Amino acid sequence: MERVTDPAPLPDPAAALRPRLPSPLQEVTEEPFARRGVRLLLKRDDLIHSALPGNKWRKLEPNLRAASAAGERTLLTFGGAWSNHLRATAAAGRLLGFATIGVVRGDELAGAPLNDSLARCAADGMRLHFLDRARYRRKTDPDVLAALHDRFGAFRLIPEGGSNSLAAQGCAELGRELRGVADTAAVACGTGGTLAGL
Ligand SMILES: Cc1ncc(COP(=O)(O)O)c(C=O)c1O
Repeated sequence: MERVTDPAPLPDPAAALRPRLPSPLQEVTEEPFARRGVRLLLKRDDLIHSALPGNKWRKLEPNLRAASAAGERTLLTFGGAWSNHLRATAAAGRLLGFATIGVVRGDELAGAPLNDSLARCAADGMRLHFLDRARYRRKTDPDVLAALHDRFGAFRLIPEGGSNSLAAQGCAELGRELRGVADTAAVACGTGGTLAGL
Protein backbone atom coordinates (compact mmCIF):
# COMPACT_ATOMS: atom_id res chain seq x y z
CA MET A 1 0.00 0.00 0.00
CA GLU A 2 1.28 3.46 -0.88
CA ARG A 3 2.15 5.52 2.17
CA VAL A 4 1.26 9.18 1.98
CA THR A 5 3.45 11.36 4.13
CA ASP A 6 3.13 15.06 4.72
CA PRO A 7 6.10 17.01 3.40
CA ALA A 8 8.44 18.32 6.07
CA PRO A 9 7.26 21.72 7.28
CA LEU A 10 9.05 24.73 5.86
CA PRO A 11 10.39 27.42 8.17
CA ASP A 12 8.08 30.21 9.23
CA PRO A 13 9.02 33.14 6.94
CA ALA A 14 9.13 35.74 9.71
CA ALA A 15 11.15 33.54 12.08
CA ALA A 16 13.58 32.50 9.33
CA LEU A 17 14.05 35.85 7.60
CA ARG A 18 13.60 38.28 10.50
CA PRO A 19 12.07 41.23 8.63
CA ARG A 20 12.62 44.70 10.00
CA LEU A 21 9.08 45.56 11.01
CA PRO A 22 7.59 47.99 11.55
CA SER A 23 9.81 49.65 8.98
CA PRO A 24 11.37 52.93 10.09
CA LEU A 25 10.10 56.37 9.18
CA GLN A 26 12.63 58.91 7.94
CA GLU A 27 11.91 62.62 7.81
CA VAL A 28 12.97 64.58 4.74
CA THR A 29 14.10 67.97 5.95
CA GLU A 30 14.15 70.05 2.79
CA GLU A 31 13.58 73.78 3.02
CA PRO A 32 10.79 73.95 0.38
CA PHE A 33 8.65 71.54 2.40
CA ALA A 34 9.30 73.34 5.70
CA ARG A 35 8.50 76.70 4.09
CA ARG A 36 5.08 75.40 3.07
CA GLY A 37 4.39 73.75 6.40
CA VAL A 38 4.57 70.24 4.94
CA ARG A 39 6.17 67.45 6.93
CA LEU A 40 7.40 64.75 4.56
CA LEU A 41 8.16 61.27 5.89
CA LEU A 42 9.57 58.34 3.96
CA LYS A 43 8.29 54.96 5.06
CA ARG A 44 11.46 52.92 4.61
CA ASP A 45 9.87 49.64 3.56
CA ASP A 46 12.97 49.11 1.43
CA LEU A 47 14.72 48.19 4.69
CA ILE A 48 12.31 45.37 5.62
CA HIS A 49 14.52 42.67 4.09
CA SER A 50 17.38 42.83 1.61
CA ALA A 51 15.96 40.07 -0.63
CA LEU A 52 12.26 40.87 -0.11
CA PRO A 53 12.17 44.64 0.21
CA GLY A 54 9.19 46.95 0.32
CA ASN A 55 5.83 45.60 -0.62
CA LYS A 56 7.46 42.33 -1.68
CA TRP A 57 7.66 41.14 1.91
CA ARG A 58 4.23 42.41 2.79
CA LYS A 59 2.62 40.71 -0.22
CA LEU A 60 4.56 37.46 -0.31
CA GLU A 61 4.72 36.59 3.37
CA PRO A 62 1.03 35.63 3.74
CA ASN A 63 1.20 33.67 0.48
CA LEU A 64 4.33 31.79 1.58
CA ARG A 65 2.74 31.01 4.91
CA ALA A 66 -0.44 29.72 3.22
CA ALA A 67 1.52 27.60 0.74
CA SER A 68 3.57 26.09 3.53
CA ALA A 69 0.49 25.34 5.64
CA ALA A 70 -1.14 23.63 2.65
CA GLY A 71 1.93 21.45 2.13
CA GLU A 72 2.68 23.09 -1.22
CA ARG A 73 6.32 23.22 -2.19
CA THR A 74 6.25 24.86 -5.62
CA LEU A 75 5.35 28.46 -6.40
CA LEU A 76 4.52 29.62 -9.91
CA THR A 77 4.16 33.27 -10.72
CA PHE A 78 4.22 35.73 -13.61
CA GLY A 79 6.13 38.83 -14.58
CA GLY A 80 7.96 40.87 -17.17
CA ALA A 81 11.65 40.56 -17.88
CA TRP A 82 12.52 43.18 -15.24
CA SER A 83 9.94 42.15 -12.65
CA ASN A 84 10.95 42.87 -9.04
CA HIS A 85 8.20 40.45 -8.04
CA LEU A 86 9.85 37.58 -9.92
CA ARG A 87 13.14 38.45 -8.23
CA ALA A 88 11.58 38.46 -4.78
CA THR A 89 9.72 35.18 -5.36
CA ALA A 90 12.90 33.48 -6.54
CA ALA A 91 14.77 34.74 -3.48
CA ALA A 92 11.99 33.63 -1.14
CA GLY A 93 12.09 30.19 -2.71
CA ARG A 94 15.81 29.90 -2.18
CA LEU A 95 15.67 31.16 1.39
CA LEU A 96 12.67 29.11 2.51
CA GLY A 97 12.90 25.93 0.45
CA PHE A 98 10.22 26.38 -2.22
CA ALA A 99 10.79 25.42 -5.83
CA THR A 100 9.91 28.42 -8.00
CA ILE A 101 8.74 28.82 -11.58
CA GLY A 102 8.69 32.22 -13.24
CA VAL A 103 6.46 32.63 -16.28
CA VAL A 104 7.96 35.51 -18.22
CA ARG A 105 6.10 37.77 -20.67
CA GLY A 106 7.50 37.44 -24.20
CA ASP A 107 8.78 34.27 -25.87
CA GLU A 108 11.15 36.38 -27.97
CA LEU A 109 13.33 36.44 -24.84
CA ALA A 110 13.65 32.66 -24.70
CA GLY A 111 16.72 32.40 -26.90
CA ALA A 112 18.37 35.62 -25.72
CA PRO A 113 20.92 35.98 -22.93
CA LEU A 114 19.18 36.61 -19.60
CA ASN A 115 19.13 40.19 -18.41
CA ASP A 116 20.52 40.92 -14.93
CA SER A 117 17.12 40.57 -13.30
CA LEU A 118 16.25 37.20 -14.83
CA ALA A 119 19.82 35.99 -14.27
CA ARG A 120 19.33 36.67 -10.56
CA CYS A 121 16.07 34.71 -10.64
CA ALA A 122 17.82 31.79 -12.30
CA ALA A 123 20.72 31.98 -9.84
CA ASP A 124 18.17 31.68 -7.04
CA GLY A 125 16.92 28.47 -8.63
CA MET A 126 13.84 29.79 -10.43
CA ARG A 127 12.84 27.85 -13.55
CA LEU A 128 12.03 30.41 -16.23
CA HIS A 129 9.30 29.74 -18.77
CA PHE A 130 8.76 32.25 -21.57
CA LEU A 131 5.23 32.73 -22.82
CA ASP A 132 4.29 34.54 -26.01
CA ARG A 133 2.56 37.85 -25.37
CA ALA A 134 -0.85 36.76 -26.65
CA ARG A 135 -0.95 33.78 -24.30
CA TYR A 136 0.58 35.83 -21.48
CA ARG A 137 -2.40 38.18 -21.69
CA ARG A 138 -4.62 35.12 -21.20
CA LYS A 139 -2.47 33.69 -18.39
CA THR A 140 -5.38 33.07 -16.04
CA ASP A 141 -7.58 31.37 -18.66
CA PRO A 142 -8.23 27.69 -17.93
CA ASP A 143 -6.48 26.38 -21.05
CA VAL A 144 -3.29 28.35 -20.38
CA LEU A 145 -3.25 27.27 -16.72
CA ALA A 146 -3.93 23.66 -17.71
CA ALA A 147 -0.94 23.74 -20.05
CA LEU A 148 1.23 25.09 -17.20
CA HIS A 149 0.01 22.31 -14.91
CA ASP A 150 0.71 19.71 -17.61
CA ARG A 151 4.23 21.00 -17.86
CA PHE A 152 5.08 21.72 -14.23
CA GLY A 153 2.67 19.59 -12.16
CA ALA A 154 1.17 20.94 -8.94
CA PHE A 155 1.98 24.48 -7.90
CA ARG A 156 0.63 27.37 -5.89
CA LEU A 157 -0.21 30.15 -8.28
CA ILE A 158 0.75 33.63 -7.18
CA PRO A 159 -0.57 36.25 -9.59
CA GLU A 160 1.45 38.84 -11.45
CA GLY A 161 2.90 41.38 -9.05
CA GLY A 162 1.99 39.05 -6.18
CA SER A 163 -1.32 40.86 -5.85
CA ASN A 164 -4.13 38.74 -4.44
CA SER A 165 -6.34 38.95 -1.36
CA LEU A 166 -3.64 37.52 0.91
CA ALA A 167 -1.24 40.15 -0.40
CA ALA A 168 -3.76 42.90 0.30
CA GLN A 169 -4.10 41.59 3.85
CA GLY A 170 -0.31 41.76 4.21
CA CYS A 171 -0.26 45.33 2.90
CA ALA A 172 -3.02 46.31 5.33
CA GLU A 173 -0.32 46.16 7.99
CA LEU A 174 1.35 49.10 6.23
CA GLY A 175 -1.79 51.12 6.81
CA ARG A 176 -1.82 50.10 10.46
CA GLU A 177 1.81 51.19 10.84
CA LEU A 178 0.93 54.59 9.37
CA ARG A 179 -2.19 55.12 11.42
CA GLY A 180 -1.99 58.36 13.37
CA VAL A 181 1.35 59.22 11.72
CA ALA A 182 0.33 60.64 8.36
CA ASP A 183 -2.84 62.18 7.02
CA THR A 184 -1.85 61.63 3.37
CA ALA A 185 0.08 58.66 1.97
CA ALA A 186 1.58 58.40 -1.51
CA VAL A 187 2.32 54.90 -2.76
CA ALA A 188 3.74 53.49 -5.99
CA CYS A 189 1.07 51.66 -7.94
CA GLY A 190 1.57 48.86 -10.47
CA THR A 191 -0.93 46.05 -10.14
CA GLY A 192 -2.65 47.95 -7.29
CA GLY A 193 -2.23 45.28 -4.60
CA THR A 194 -0.29 47.53 -2.25
CA LEU A 195 -2.81 50.34 -2.63
CA ALA A 196 -5.72 47.94 -2.07
CA GLY A 197 -4.26 46.81 1.24
CA LEU A 198 -3.33 50.29 2.35
C1 LIG B 1 9.18 48.95 -5.43
C2 LIG B 1 7.75 48.83 -5.88
N1 LIG B 1 6.80 49.55 -5.25
C3 LIG B 1 5.52 49.47 -5.63
C4 LIG B 1 5.13 48.68 -6.70
C5 LIG B 1 3.69 48.62 -7.09
O1 LIG B 1 3.05 47.64 -6.36
P1 LIG B 1 1.63 47.06 -6.78
O2 LIG B 1 1.89 46.09 -7.89
O3 LIG B 1 1.14 46.36 -5.53
O4 LIG B 1 0.77 48.20 -7.19
C6 LIG B 1 6.08 47.89 -7.35
C7 LIG B 1 5.71 47.01 -8.45
O5 LIG B 1 5.44 47.45 -9.53
C8 LIG B 1 7.44 47.97 -6.95
O6 LIG B 1 8.39 47.23 -7.55
